[in-house]
Amino acid sequence: MKILITGGAGFIGSHLVEKLLKENCQVMVLDNLHTGLKENLPEGVSFIEMDVRDENILTVFAKEKFEAIVHLAGQTMVNVSVDDPKFDAAVNIQGTINVLEAARKTGVKRVVFASTAAAYGDAQELPIVETTTLSPLSFYGLSKVTVEHYLALYQEIFNLDYVVLRFANVYGERQGDGGEGGVISIFTKRIASGKSITIYGDGGQTRDFVYAGDIAAGIYCALQTDNVNTAYNLSTQTEVSVNAMVALFDEITGNHVVPLYERARKGDIYRSVLSNVKAITGLGWKPVMSLAEGLKRTYHSFNQQK
Ligand SMILES: NC(=O)c1ccc[n+]([C@@H]2O[C@H](COP(=O)([O-])OP(=O)(O)OC[C@H]3O[C@@H](n4cnc5c(N)ncnc54)[C@H](O)[C@@H]3O)[C@@H](O)[C@H]2O)c1
Repeated sequence: MKILITGGAGFIGSHLVEKLLKENCQVMVLDNLHTGLKENLPEGVSFIEMDVRDENILTVFAKEKFEAIVHLAGQTMVNVSVDDPKFDAAVNIQGTINVLEAARKTGVKRVVFASTAAAYGDAQELPIVETTTLSPLSFYGLSKVTVEHYLALYQEIFNLDYVVLRFANVYGERQGDGGEGGVISIFTKRIASGKSITIYGDGGQTRDFVYAGDIAAGIYCALQTDNVNTAYNLSTQTEVSVNAMVALFDEITGNHVVPLYERARKGDIYRSVLSNVKAITGLGWKPVMSLAEGLKRTYHSFNQQK
């Protein structure tokens, strides 16, 4: 299968490229290197440096004739979306429409889209299931929800199949400091360089931390499945408090990590956990990495880079 990964030079993209090459897919990466790095890509992977907003994207699609697109490229930071909603919409909404137009005009069969738990906002019933009302609290979440609606209409009007994947808090090797799920990469890098870490709030706040390699495997399932034109959460369905996550570093580092505590930040959700039942039944996917092992790998990769 010939697949284009937009944003493939980024954190999740680099795990996906690795997975798809292992599965003998033909892979091309399109990325403007805004936050991505060319070094994230294995040698020999076809790469094109281009912005998803670039009109020339159609020429690339017409030449390459992709069967499927995994659309990961995007503005990934909640605070940037709040400071600059126009930029967020230009990249995440208009840039995506540019990709979808090129896709439907060149006979692409399927688009897999990276959506987010932020699409749900502060849902009251946990774990969050896919039918929960989408009530994003930021323009980032709103731009993802908007694209989900575009995908549904592109399917209805142009017959372009899609799979929406709403990722929980993704972590792992090569993660940048911004974006979502950044708490693990920030803490890991600071702990690896002997610096202190600060928890905002009492540390009892929970997240559903899912390893990037598991996300890559979920995207691969989404490329294969017959159960298309719907949304799936990709999550562990396990609620872990920030205090419990930090405690795992004691064993990894052999030191007792003592965090500093500061007042909770406004707008931070206290509890977050997503159901993964639909992905297990509909995609045949299951996360396999334990948080302890995933953190260990992440820590060792950052520790080597210091
Ligand atoms: N990391 C998480 O916890 C998480 C959670 C939910 C959803 N997501 C989504 O997953 C996707 C990948 O996120 P990530 O964590 O790997 O972030 P990332 O910043 O590492 O990856 C994004 C990639 O997109 C590229 N990019 C940005 N703007 C672009 C543009 N205009 N044109 C072309 N390329 C562009 C960047 O250079 C980068 O390589 C994003 O769409 C993000 O919203 C991530």
